[in-house]
Amino acid sequence: MARYLVSGGAGYVGSHVVLALTRRGDQVVVLDNLRQGHRAAIPGTADLVEADLADSPAIAEVFANWRFDGVLHFAALSLVGESMRNPLVYIAENVANTARLAGAAAKSGCLRFVLSSTAALFGYPERTPIDEDARLDPVSPYGESKLMAERALDWADRLHGLRSASLRYFNAAGADPEAGIGEDHEPETHLIPLAIRAALGLAPPLTIFGADYPTPDGTCIRDYVHVTDLADAHLRVLDHLRQGRSCRFNIGGGQGHSVRQVLDAVERVSGRPVPHCFGERRPGDPPVLVAASGRLRRETGWQPRHSDLDAIIRSAWAWHSRNPYGFGDRAGSGSPVLAARPAKVPVPS
Ligand code: UFG
Repeated sequence: MARYLVSGGAGYVGSHVVLALTRRGDQVVVLDNLRQGHRAAIPGTADLVEADLADSPAIAEVFANWRFDGVLHFAALSLVGESMRNPLVYIAENVANTARLAGAAAKSGCLRFVLSSTAALFGYPERTPIDEDARLDPVSPYGESKLMAERALDWADRLHGLRSASLRYFNAAGADPEAGIGEDHEPETHLIPLAIRAALGLAPPLTIFGADYPTPDGTCIRDYVHVTDLADAHLRVLDHLRQGRSCRFNIGGGQGHSVRQVLDAVERVSGRPVPHCFGERRPGDPPVLVAASGRLRRETGWQPRHSDLDAIIRSAWAWHSRNPYGFGDRAGSGSPVLAARPAKVPVPS
């Protein structure tokens, strides 16, 4: 039996990975400040350390108290739009936290590290599907922060022997409603939860951001991957790291779907209309983002099993309709992360 430290394990993707690890019998320690995550998303068999990654003594204590076979690092600021308004907060927080956690892991002798990375590294790609050799050219501070985090891990490999896997997610979606976990962000900005919540009458009509893209129906195309498939990829990658080489994988469900097709699927699955209107393009949205996940399949045997669009929507629909208030632990509105910070942020010293 192995033991893993999971930062951000109370968040959306993190909690599904914690569930998968505990289901296969691994021990998990979740490290989360619960600013974005939910206590109720953590299985009872996992330990929770409620601490911030900026708190170096608390992190050192975690590594002193347990021996880990690997670290999975999900905790991050992750909203592209918010990063455009608070660029230096995003870069400072995401890069420094990755460096601190990787440094503490290496110092403790734990030399396997998985980074939750993003398709936002690729900016406006020259071609799709996007493989791992595509040009890295982020067009948001969020994407830049993850690219810098990946590069920090390269140095940790060269100089500390820390073997890492950077997993570039395309569009994580869906839920594990049977296990009682799903997507609950505040604020929610993602297409599938917003479309479902509009159909349930829990959110205003969805605005489709742009219908004049160079795609067959004029709306943006994305590659949705079920969060349970994403979790399975993490487990396989942890095992793959035992081969002693750092790696990078692009992860998507393998098919592109337009915003219009997603709305049609929500209507098909739920039997309800999705109230919507058309708005301007959202700045920074590339027309098409589809992953080439061949490397992950070849090297780890991963296969997406739940990433058919209707299956994704069915699981998300079940989660949102059974849990209209998500985990029910949020009172306010607006970003809980940046609410307390000044809008203009000084350059970090
Ligand atoms: N969209 C709408 N209306 C909405 C919300 C989204 O039309 O109210 C559209 C977007 O314009 C986009 C598509 O739905 O075309 C998907 O948008 P999401 O916000 O759900 O997801 P993104 O593709 O913008 O973001 C995802 C991840 C990010 C990652 C990014 C990489 O959530 O973390 O892919 O490009 F950075």
